[in-house]
Amino acid sequence: MGKIMNKNNTYQGGAENFKGFIRLSSNENNNGIPAKVKKIISQNAKFSHIYPELNSQSLIKKIADYNKIKEQNIIIGAGSDEVLQMIFNAFTKPGDYVMYSKYSFAMYRVFANNFKCKSLVFNDKNFKFKLEDFKKKYNSKVKLIFLANPNNPTGSIFLKKELVNFIKSINEKTILVLDSAYSEYLLNADYTDGIHLVNKFKNIIVTKTFSKIFGLGGLRVGWGYAQNQLIQKLYQVKKPFNVSRIASAAAYNILNKNWVKKQALLNISNKSYILSRLNNYNIEIIDTDANFVLLKLGSEKKSKMLNNFAIKNKITVRSLKSYGLPNFIRMSVGTKKEIKRVVEVLNNFNV
Ligand SMILES: Cc1ncc(COP(=O)(O)O)c(C=O)c1O
Repeated sequence: MGKIMNKNNTYQGGAENFKGFIRLSSNENNNGIPAKVKKIISQNAKFSHIYPELNSQSLIKKIADYNKIKEQNIIIGAGSDEVLQMIFNAFTKPGDYVMYSKYSFAMYRVFANNFKCKSLVFNDKNFKFKLEDFKKKYNSKVKLIFLANPNNPTGSIFLKKELVNFIKSINEKTILVLDSAYSEYLLNADYTDGIHLVNKFKNIIVTKTFSKIFGLGGLRVGWGYAQNQLIQKLYQVKKPFNVSRIASAAAYNILNKNWVKKQALLNISNKSYILSRLNNYNIEIIDTDANFVLLKLGSEKKSKMLNNFAIKNKITVRSLKSYGLPNFIRMSVGTKKEIKRVVEVLNNFNV
């Protein structure tokens, strides 16, 4: 299992167990990638002795075409984590304020501590919070704001209108990082991943990843998108050759709108299977718009028992204790076959 080394400065990852396990601990796409992309990955193995492109230029061009956006405003990272790190590196100095919500992606806190920033933490105790309330904690000195939309681990989302109003209300010197790691799972027309807001606002950076719906978490590719002024600053701190040749080739070839849509629909249908079939009075299920659900238990003890029970049955789920939510378990939506088994197992959980 992943381990905590230092509560504040390192990240507790999902379970490392995967051989023979149903892995529902890291919000991966367990449906896997198309055979064509697997073939490209193995074909590229023979070029392993050759450095990749300096800045993953071919992939940038493909992302630009796919999203109808400008190449020069894109930067590629080894996972969107690396883009987040570049953002801290480029735009903060020790003592700067950064802001995020309490129950949001753990790396915001980890990087804030590593870069010696001061964190302003909004307590989204009801899980679904309004940006209007978030704003009350904000002050114009804040350097960076992080908003994951949808949020991990609570699954909360903001719709376009609320987001735009919020951006307009903050100081132009504050950079808003819109983390859209799970955006492709949303098919709601009132939602935006923020890509098309970048033209309008010079103080936003959108981050996206190939680790979630695109199924390439093991290869580490993500990207950031912002206006010239910000993106150039990120390039100043980017390492050369930061994404491997194999990872770039896989990401290049996975971009296919029909396939992505199919994955999103599959997620919705498998998620509704969980919601309708998991009927254990010990477990409250909280739905999200992303590729995971939350399981709420009556106590930390019960949550730990459920975690252990799942492991005993060769299923990994994610305890949210390290997120400050000890009664909660986050569970990714697996394949149809996996969730059938998972529902059967969890319905037999007794406390
Ligand atoms: C909200 C959010 N942002 C970013 C990431 C980082 O993803 P990656 O570094 O794999 O692109 C994750 C991963 O779980 C996430 O949940």
